[in-house]
Amino acid sequence: MIIPVYKPYIAQNTKNYVMECIDSGWISSRGEFIKRFEEKFADYIGVEDAVTVSNGTVALHLALVALGIKTGDEVIVPSFTYIATINALLYVGAIPVYVDSLETSLQVNADLIRRAITPRTKAVIAVHLYGDCCDMDELTSLCAEHSLLLIEDAAEGFGTLWKGRHVGTFGDISTFSFFGNKTITTGEGGMVVCKRLDISKFCRHLKSQAVSKDREYWHDAVGYNYRMTNIQAAIGLAQIEEAETILKYKREIAQKYSENLQRLPLRFHEKTAEVDHSFWMCSIILDDRSKREPLRKKLSEMGVETRPFFPPAHKMPHCFQDISLPVAESISERGINLPSFPMLSDNEINYVCQGIRSFFV
Ligand SMILES: Cc1ncc(COP(=O)(O)O)c(C=O)c1O
Repeated sequence: MIIPVYKPYIAQNTKNYVMECIDSGWISSRGEFIKRFEEKFADYIGVEDAVTVSNGTVALHLALVALGIKTGDEVIVPSFTYIATINALLYVGAIPVYVDSLETSLQVNADLIRRAITPRTKAVIAVHLYGDCCDMDELTSLCAEHSLLLIEDAAEGFGTLWKGRHVGTFGDISTFSFFGNKTITTGEGGMVVCKRLDISKFCRHLKSQAVSKDREYWHDAVGYNYRMTNIQAAIGLAQIEEAETILKYKREIAQKYSENLQRLPLRFHEKTAEVDHSFWMCSIILDDRSKREPLRKKLSEMGVETRPFFPPAHKMPHCFQDISLPVAESISERGINLPSFPMLSDNEINYVCQGIRSFFV
């Protein structure tokens, strides 16, 4: 048995919509599926507008450029995140100010954000990790108090709710990823969601070479080609039509893992009271870091693929800082992402859990 960490859910209308693109010849970044996907996505999370882009990394870059974050600006960010969050800051010359995370939820520690604010701080990036979500009450109020921009990196948070409201609807700008292993996928792809419609319009302008409306081949800013293709949007539309089904499967899978993995020297990444966790990844955090690689090896020998938690960014060579963030450093060495794809069967879940249980006896 080979059980991967992820395989995409292929929604029912995928083939029809993709064939429509091919039959009509609209295979580039023009075509009706772009608008249909953007509208359906905006409607689903409850915002006015959503802008498709080619992946979640460029979504972050576009967000920073559109908000005017520039060289020397300090941006507070968890070190415990996927590297794209940090790289986007480096693309615009901003300074990542790393803060530690919370042992319980794995999300950024809002108290530490408060302490990291300086006169040079421009923004905070709230990264919603593994399908859980940051404390959005704390983050929205601290950003309002200190006049800071709030960016949500919701690449891993599609479908997650904070007190009943979708992540991606709190920030000045929020970004999503639709890579093949994401809850909603377009193969490669992303989305930018802006609180202000003029900024949303600016993102549309920048993502397509900042071309002038009135004059051909005339460009009024440094623009980018960050467009999504019509075929990707067609896949995305089919996916979002079945978002509720996908999320239901994922939450059921998490529930089964959680029940099956009781009374072991580890904890399951449970949801907290305010959050409807979307369980992009089902994760376990071991008590003893020295057991993590032997357990992963055992599971791998059984044909079960796993992933380690992200190493903290402040340890990586290109964005190294000589600081100590004990929680981020500890959880990153103890965490494992288990197979988490929506079609994972009960037999497969039991097989993975048996593997974990037998490792500890
Ligand atoms: C937290 C986070 N931010 C950004 C990204 C970047 O998205 P993409 O891979 O679509 O460029 C990812 C991707 O996995 C991510 O997990």
